[in-house]
Amino acid sequence: MFLWGTATASYQIEGAVAEDGRGRSVWDTFAHEPGKVKDGHTGDVACDHYHRWSEDVTLMAALGVNSYRFSISWPRILPSGHGAVNEAGLGFYDRLVDGLCAAGIVPAATLFHWDLPQALEDEGGWLNRDTASRMAEYAGIVAARLADRVPIWITLNEPFIHMVFGYALGTHAPGRTMFLDALPAAHHQLLGHGLAAQALRAHGAGQVLVTNNCTPVWAASGAEEDLRAAEAYDVLHNRLFNDPVLLGRYPDLSAFGLDAMPALRDGDLAAIAQPLDGLGINYYNPTRVRAPGDPGILPFEDAGVTGHPTTAFGWPVVPDGLRELLTGLKARYGEALPPVYVTENGCSQADEPGPDGVVDDQGRIAFLDGHIAAVAAAMAEGVDVRGYFVWSLLDNFEWAEGYNQRFGLVHVDYATQRRTPKASYHWLRERIAARATP
Ligand code: BGC
Repeated sequence: MFLWGTATASYQIEGAVAEDGRGRSVWDTFAHEPGKVKDGHTGDVACDHYHRWSEDVTLMAALGVNSYRFSISWPRILPSGHGAVNEAGLGFYDRLVDGLCAAGIVPAATLFHWDLPQALEDEGGWLNRDTASRMAEYAGIVAARLADRVPIWITLNEPFIHMVFGYALGTHAPGRTMFLDALPAAHHQLLGHGLAAQALRAHGAGQVLVTNNCTPVWAASGAEEDLRAAEAYDVLHNRLFNDPVLLGRYPDLSAFGLDAMPALRDGDLAAIAQPLDGLGINYYNPTRVRAPGDPGILPFEDAGVTGHPTTAFGWPVVPDGLRELLTGLKARYGEALPPVYVTENGCSQADEPGPDGVVDDQGRIAFLDGHIAAVAAAMAEGVDVRGYFVWSLLDNFEWAEGYNQRFGLVHVDYATQRRTPKASYHWLRERIAARATP
């Protein structure tokens, strides 16, 4: 069965940050620091999904999706990072999973979508190798409780983005500005993935995936130095995260002057390269780079993708980039590429209801239509794609942008928490009903 789904993440939708024994996450801390998130927004209430999850499951059932990718809030389960398990936190996901199963929706749970317990950040966060072991403990606890009903598990969400925004540039929690010294956060997340995958399987998990945010990389010109810059960016963004999980080795970062990885220990790569049941891919847009004007610390600079429509975020809309990405993964990894799930794809728009109450998001319909066609094209070219999840079910807390970027199939009025399915929701319902595959 091809999985048609929607995706969300705990901190972006749940709210209820101080309820039922939940501990603080790095995002609670960061969002409450003045100036970190646009307009001072926080995830304190978000979409109030913690209380309204049943309404949200009903919305998904009416949409006709057969899967839902959500993330588990680590600090709801282990408020202080280790030790005592918060039963009420497990209880919330228990109810959600039961509700999904009753609605015929396959749960796909992400373990880590960026909301690390603050207590673990206080011990070094992902710069501390021990966090990988803490992740395995957490994975075992949630799988022991939920794996009887959750068939699909995703260990990490976009370790590249978390490393770059969270540790290198500091625009996301935990807000560290370490530039290339952030590279240990890549290795430790990947180790966390591998150890968590083992723990998940030991506690009955069926399918284990990791989700990487991938981008086709375009050189700004055919000049040797631009081609070299594109190769360097591809290594850092794509291969640093795909090679170790699929091939059991890291690409050669030092060839590009990017050599701040921590020393590997025996067994690390074997742990990271656990056989996967699928690779999750999040795709938003391609990236075009050129050689740096000034020799700085990075061997590339952004050249911008022009000549395409853009989203409210200003991101270029390039549906064929998804076909290029998927076929490129197949060409690069061949037999080592497991089945692929597009675990996120979507766009932000300035959506508001019109006088008739309708949210007429034609741009999102065109976006989804084009990207679903790109998945179909990749499948026709031999890529084994098993699922497509729209980011996102609901408008939600878009990290450093607060509530200013709307990605939902369903509009959320944050003052009232009223949910209004947009035109794209109705379009997708018909699209899914008409065809079982892209
Ligand atoms: C993340 C989501 C985010 C989306 C849009 C992805 O990088 O996984 O949490 O909301 O992109 O920015």
